[in-house]
Amino acid sequence: MSQTLLQLLDSRVSAALAACGCEGAPAIIQPAGRPEFGDYQANGVMAAAKSRKMNPRALAEQVVAALDLSGIASKLEIAGPGFINITLAPEFLAQRAQAALGQGDLAVPKADVQRVVVDYSSPNLAKEMHVGHLRSTIIGDALARVLRFLGNEVIAQNHVGDWGTQFGMLTAFLIESEQGGAGAGADGMALNDLEDFYRRAKQRFDEDEAFATRAREYVVKLQGGDAQVNALWKRFLDVSLHHCEEVYQELGVGLTRADVRGESAYNNDLPVVVRDLQAKGLAVESQGAQVVFLDEFKTKNQDGSETPAAYIVQKQDGGYLYATTDLAAIRYRVAQLKADRVLYVVDARQGLHFNQLFTVSRKAGYAPDAVSLEHVGFGVMLGEDGKPFKTRSGGTVKLAELLQEATERAFTLVSEKNPDLPEPQRRDIARAVGIGAVKYADLSKNRNSDYVFSWDTMLAFEGNTAPYLQYAYTRIAGVFRKAEDVDASAPIVLDEPAERALALELARFADALQSVARETMPHFLCSYLYNLATQFMRFYEACPVLKSEGAVRASRLQLCRLTAETLRTGLGLLGIDVLEAM
Ligand code: ARG
Repeated sequence: MSQTLLQLLDSRVSAALAACGCEGAPAIIQPAGRPEFGDYQANGVMAAAKSRKMNPRALAEQVVAALDLSGIASKLEIAGPGFINITLAPEFLAQRAQAALGQGDLAVPKADVQRVVVDYSSPNLAKEMHVGHLRSTIIGDALARVLRFLGNEVIAQNHVGDWGTQFGMLTAFLIESEQGGAGAGADGMALNDLEDFYRRAKQRFDEDEAFATRAREYVVKLQGGDAQVNALWKRFLDVSLHHCEEVYQELGVGLTRADVRGESAYNNDLPVVVRDLQAKGLAVESQGAQVVFLDEFKTKNQDGSETPAAYIVQKQDGGYLYATTDLAAIRYRVAQLKADRVLYVVDARQGLHFNQLFTVSRKAGYAPDAVSLEHVGFGVMLGEDGKPFKTRSGGTVKLAELLQEATERAFTLVSEKNPDLPEPQRRDIARAVGIGAVKYADLSKNRNSDYVFSWDTMLAFEGNTAPYLQYAYTRIAGVFRKAEDVDASAPIVLDEPAERALALELARFADALQSVARETMPHFLCSYLYNLATQFMRFYEACPVLKSEGAVRASRLQLCRLTAETLRTGLGLLGIDVLEAM
């Protein structure tokens, strides 16, 4: 198939509009809101008629007469002021299903292939990963998978925070703890708990003036390239990255060391960027700092005058900032990585930073207009009390512990449901269900909003949850275990309404993926899979599969198989495993 369902309908209706004197008028194809409107509605006629001063109803009639949907639609109807209701032919839906079954990628078309850089996870290595990085990691991973599946070339960039004054403090403390110095504990295990290590280092820094001075000296040495301090710094990063990798592995996220390009990688570029911005007349001196003033982000003063936003690229003391590093990173991503599109999967609270960063990058020519720069923001993860997610004692929740709890809770549930399964199998199921639940709960919400983390909701076997979808898959797997003779090439025939409804939903898979990729919204895929599972359950109740016979049975088994394949592929694109039994 070379076109998705929407693309196909769009091209046909656009051609009909053009044939009726409305060249270039958008067809505006949307899924019909109600069954009596058919399956899809073409809504472009009204606007086309208006701008050409035509009667919309009359234009709709002409368009329908010119519309070639033979072999695709079984019914066309004009409704209201000029909507065109399209009902797809069962033979056409059967044919789409058949074509999808024949192919490993479910015959999803690969159009407009781009090179996409996805900046995600990107934790600060001075501390342990926390829940904010969980969201970035999960959302970024799902987007990377979908984009790749659609044929794009995806380059993951883990823009880790591995530079800055904190690292002087941490390396100083690392030396001290290894020498068994004050407050450090000479256990040689100091780095086992990064969070604790950071806390103790910070405490020393705040309480001991001599230590604080040493820490500052280490920052200077680190920046000056001192070999000993650099070696310590690298060791610290290695331990911290190793910790991240354990979380990635537990989560089933494919980020590796090769994807890490931390802030420090841009060190040499920072003075170059500032000089370049000065040469272009963008950066100017202001109170000793180097600043790009942005008229686009003016704020109103009390006296009515306006002040442009100041995007600082170099501090008074000569130091560089997060912003400078991001400018250098854009240059690298566009010029070296040759990105067509750059996605930043970062907390919504950094929205202003990215807006300003993109504006400066355009002005400086680091990213031409053809390159799309997108901040893929997300809201805060909240506890069930509606407050930012914290441990009971108010501390940050460690990801490793959170994921362990997910698996433990899932194990309890699975053991209640299926006490007879051998324990190792229950452990495997628990892992897929527990981790799947955490990921799905996050991905299924509109990422722009804050979301409430609730164990009970995410682990429920009912509703829009991972366990529900995994269970739907398992049920189909169960059908095939009992089916014995399965004809993998049997023709699909759609006679019953529930068969047709299921085939229609199956035919929408590619469009669901396209919308995820276009709008960077993983929850579109979750809603799609939930609808698919719901349609399947309806079909399964209305249309006996194993108890039917001959061609009907074979056709229904084919629908089951395509549903299972679509659920498995779709969940896989969210980074969630399916199970043959649970
Ligand atoms: N390290 C940052 C943080 O933890 C996120 C970095 C996001 N990526 C970027 N290019 N700024 O908040």
